[in-house]
Amino acid sequence: MAAEKRWVIEVEHLTVSYQARPALLDVSVRIEGDQLVGVIGPNGAGKSTFIKAILGFVKPDIGSVRINGRDARTVKGEVAYVPQRGTVDWDFPITVEEVAVMGRYQQIPWYRSPTAVDREAAREALAMVRMEDLSHRQIGELSGGQQQRVFMARALAQGSDILLLDEPFAGVDAATERAILDVLERAKQAGKTLVVVHHDLSTAAEYFDKLILIKQRLYAYGPPGTVLREDLLSKVYEGRLRIFSSVIDQEGA
Ligand SMILES: Nc1ncnc2c1ncn2[C@@H]1O[C@H](COP(=O)(O)OP(=O)(O)OP(=O)(O)O)[C@@H](O)[C@H]1O
Ligand SMILES: [Mg+2]
Repeated sequence: MAAEKRWVIEVEHLTVSYQARPALLDVSVRIEGDQLVGVIGPNGAGKSTFIKAILGFVKPDIGSVRINGRDARTVKGEVAYVPQRGTVDWDFPITVEEVAVMGRYQQIPWYRSPTAVDREAAREALAMVRMEDLSHRQIGELSGGQQQRVFMARALAQGSDILLLDEPFAGVDAATERAILDVLERAKQAGKTLVVVHHDLSTAAEYFDKLILIKQRLYAYGPPGTVLREDLLSKVYEGRLRIFSSVIDQEGA
């Protein structure tokens, strides 16, 4: 008998609006453990909103999110988040190590400072993203790719089994992209579930076990070969499909 599936994230009939305009409409997706899942779709499709709804940062009009079988609103610290880079204030005076330690704050009660255990978790996370040598730098003095890795370290230090990353590859060079992918794959091997917003269709099939294609509504969810189909992509990306014809050739339909 097949083992019962372990749903780590269950999104049911999710509708989210900003000022009465729906950014997501009736989206239902169930994500299993130990997977690297990509979220694709054009600008303004609702990818960041999807991630924020799982985190409980935006309130659904309709629908629900469950994390490890429990209502997401009652769950604390089980989901770690790496925000889209443009949304962070990089002039804030804080060091690399302090950002990583911030990942521990959910475990640290208000009446005490970070302990040796918290600092060790932060240091391990910085080593995992290969940023330990820069731990005393101010974050404003880092390159874009280094900043991205520090924010991954903050999420890893939290120790959560679920990581949500919003465009971690945006604006980084090819070597940094490889380094970040390597961290994601190692996190998956360590038993984590990762949901990653991604905008490059040419690498989506290579990087992810499954893809979620959204533009307000859910258009497809499954292994890359079943999602990167010409009929689906032309509906979602409209006139811009020509750019992606090489992707479809590789994937078949
Ligand atoms: N705080 C907000 N207030 C009002 N409208 C918003 C807000 N955040 C997002 N939106 C709108 O909701 C829709 C979805 O936005 P979202 O940021 O989720 O898209 P996205 O797929 O992440 O886009 P991008 O690829 O540009 O990051 C867009 O039309 C956007 O303008
Ligand atoms: Mg976004």
